Amino acid sequence: MQAAIEIDGLTKDYYLGFWRKRPRRALDGLTLTIEEGEVFGFLGPNGAGKTTTLKLLMGLIFPTSGGARILGRAIEDVSMHHDVGYLPEQPYFYDYLTARELLDYFARFFRLSAEERRRRIGSVLDLVGLSSAADVQLRRYSKGMLQRIGMAQAILHQPRVVFLDEPMSGLDPVGRREARDIILDLKRQGRTVFFSTHILPDAEMLCDRVAVLVGGKLQGVGSPEQIVSIEVESLEVLFELPAGSALPPALEDAATQTGARYRIQVPEAQLYDALEGLRAARARIISVSQLKPTLEDFFLRLVGGEQRKHAVEISGGGL
Ligand SMILES: Nc1ncnc2c1ncn2[C@@H]1O[C@H](COP(=O)(O)OP(=O)(O)OP(=O)(O)O)[C@@H](O)[C@H]1O
Ligand SMILES: [Mg+2]
Repeated sequence: MQAAIEIDGLTKDYYLGFWRKRPRRALDGLTLTIEEGEVFGFLGPNGAGKTTTLKLLMGLIFPTSGGARILGRAIEDVSMHHDVGYLPEQPYFYDYLTARELLDYFARFFRLSAEERRRRIGSVLDLVGLSSAADVQLRRYSKGMLQRIGMAQAILHQPRVVFLDEPMSGLDPVGRREARDIILDLKRQGRTVFFSTHILPDAEMLCDRVAVLVGGKLQGVGSPEQIVSIEVESLEVLFELPAGSALPPALEDAATQTGARYRIQVPEAQLYDALEGLRAARARIISVSQLKPTLEDFFLRLVGGEQRKHAVEISGGGL
């Protein structure tokens, strides 16, 4: 089967400075393959190179070296855009148009009949929850509504591969859930979705696989579970003590108290000892739950320390 996106050694240097232009490597030899039908999360902190990657793939900027293919066609081949949708990081639209007019403008690029345009625009407005505001000028839209119209524009022509740069940004929790539902809907239709984010729970919930990019370099690729299963897990026990009963001495240091409730964290191997101690103290166990490190923990560890450089300098100084 043909891969949806094949990225091969994609590299981008930006030249900074006026007199002494110095190259700064924003993306460093990215190699990545995304299969058709995958929902793929592209994670990284600010300045990691996510937007740079998406702009390169969309042909908006040009690579210093390396290349990529989308649905088997090189990114220089403009015909690939028929099968590709793109939500930019900060979508900007001519704001005296209404949502319906804007979508009609985009739909005309795809040579759809008037009837087909009307039908698609209606259904996509419905999907992004903007039907009731379809005839309002975009300058009256909130940030969240603009993000939705950006999403509508990206999927209007039913592309096989959809690129979304921070699709959840600017959305409230309801909007985020709706954006997630749209992405899941695209997946059900067998489309490929490649989206960048730094909202990790969204990535954990949606993605078949994620890639983590820091300072222009790929740090790892895998399922969200694979990426986070690195840590040893521990368990959290929540309990109450009857009046007059004291904490077992072995647990004194580990426990934190909130009102009548206590909470302890123990490694799996020590769980039964802890429970025996609590039984002896006549504690009432409220819950025992697994503490899994989240993608967030993993991410914070990755970007900690010296990795928190925004881009990699490739030459020591100017000429
Ligand atoms: N046009 C440009 N000229 C010079 N440097 C740039 C340009 N665009 C981006 N950069 C630099 O390239 C690096 C990567 O930027 P990019 O916008 O791709 O990051 P990002 O991962 O999308 O970050 P964010 O999460 O903030 O959107 C940053 O160090 C940024 O300053
Ligand atoms: Mg960005």
